[in-house]
Amino acid sequence: GSVVEMHVGAVVNAANESLLGGGGVDGAIHRAAGHKLLEECRTLGGCKTGDSKITKAYDIIWADHIIHTVGPVYSGSDSDVELLGSCYRQSLDLAAENGCLSIAFPCISTGVYGYPIEKAAKVALLAVSMWMNEHPETMIEVYFCCYRDEEMEAYKELLGK
Ligand code: AR6
Repeated sequence: GSVVEMHVGAVVNAANESLLGGGGVDGAIHRAAGHKLLEECRTLGGCKTGDSKITKAYDIIWADHIIHTVGPVYSGSDSDVELLGSCYRQSLDLAAENGCLSIAFPCISTGVYGYPIEKAAKVALLAVSMWMNEHPETMIEVYFCCYRDEEMEAYKELLGK
């Protein structure tokens, strides 16, 4: 389903370095959150690939925050894994620092940015499970929002379901 409909502490946005909106999940989040989100994003000075920044959720009233992260444009090099993993880790760091008890991720980089979903899902699951092992004191519920059937299939395959 759509991340925009999740009732969570933080909804994650697959943004671009400008943080000023775009298509895909970014467009859906900005449309749902309203113009105040864009106003706050303008104050953030953009975001580097692999990094994350947090804002309020504005008109998405069933979420408290939006965490904007910038995934890599898929290139087939080792840095893809590093940068995509960093998106998940930094988003979890921000969620924990801001007291979020739950977080919903879209499949970062797997749309316009061209990351193959099977590879991206593997990186996502590994990065999140490593983060959780490193933060045993933090209780945070993590949702992976599978929007297209192929996203659902990739996660099911990896989780053996
Ligand atoms: N909820 C959950 N997932 C969604 C939704 C939604 N509402 N809509 C699309 N997806 P993309 P990227 C899935 O292109 O590849 C933007 O223009 C979709 O099926 O949104 O990281 C930004 O501004 C796909 O698997 O993000 C950037 O310029 C996944 O979200 C650029 O696209 C990611 O697709 C970022 O590209």
